[in-house]
Amino acid sequence: PRHLISAADLTRDDAVLILDTAEEMARVADRPIKKLPTLRGRTVVNLFFEDSTRTRISFEAAAKRLSADVINFSAKGSSVSKGESLKDTALTLEAMGADAVVIRHGASGAPYRLATSGWIDSAVVNAGDGTHEHPTQALLDAFTMRRRLVGPDAGIGRDLDGRRITIVGDILHSRVARSNVHLLHTLGAHVTLVAPPTLVPVGVEQWPCDVSYRLDDVLPKSDAVMMLRVQRERMNAAYFPTEREYSRRYGLDGERMARMPEHAIVMHPGPMVRGMEITAAVADSDRCTAVEQVANGVSTRMAVLYLLLGGSETALPSAAARTE
Ligand code: CP
Repeated sequence: PRHLISAADLTRDDAVLILDTAEEMARVADRPIKKLPTLRGRTVVNLFFEDSTRTRISFEAAAKRLSADVINFSAKGSSVSKGESLKDTALTLEAMGADAVVIRHGASGAPYRLATSGWIDSAVVNAGDGTHEHPTQALLDAFTMRRRLVGPDAGIGRDLDGRRITIVGDILHSRVARSNVHLLHTLGAHVTLVAPPTLVPVGVEQWPCDVSYRLDDVLPKSDAVMMLRVQRERMNAAYFPTEREYSRRYGLDGERMARMPEHAIVMHPGPMVRGMEITAAVADSDRCTAVEQVANGVSTRMAVLYLLLGGSETALPSAAARTE
């Protein structure tokens, strides 16, 4: 089976195919019956070792809209707390007949280990691993940017060539930032990272993007500004910046948003900490796509499951629409 472990593995053709397929899937969501028979009889397991709201729910919705059976596994309340290993957990899932395993794990590299271990035959989808990658988040973000910045129909096959995307906040711990940098570069966009110096990863010079410490200088040159949460749970309490000092320098409020071009959008992968990286007024404004990103996540994840599990040609949404 094929896997989706890293946005860095995707060619431009791969990424455009997923985004175009997601557009087809989004049309299903607009229909009175939001379901396709494509993955009937297939089993998708959501294997979550870390907390999640959006990713877990949207993978579940995506699999159900494709008529797959879904098994939700959460490490909390499972035998992981008794010391069971990833291997034995994986073998248990294999025994349940999983066709795809969607895994979120605190350890960077856990999805790669699962995909290459030989323990299971299923397709593996990375739903966020440690500080490494979150490829379906980057795909749904790119989908949102194409819709908002390129045009309402996204223009099948069109991409983000020349768009200027700014990613602001805790880059050091952000798998969302890493996946977005890779995918946006592949799609021809120009990425600038803005963060306090202590929250920029070592080796960032090797990444295909620019780095700036001055948010106010970058905002007027941005088509999209993606705000990130400061990941308190991944840092020593002594290094955690105070809300006041952080939001003064790196938070997005109404005054700062006014520096952005009129067409520019504000993005946030969630979860948001209102008052820290983004004010409530900005989060609730028309320019903020956070809720739209969640809805787009279902279509994007439908596309990923469909392409990985090889849904039949006749069950493509356009074909299904013709037979109604
Ligand atoms: N964006 C995102 O991954 O959110 P969750 O942690 O709620 O899944």
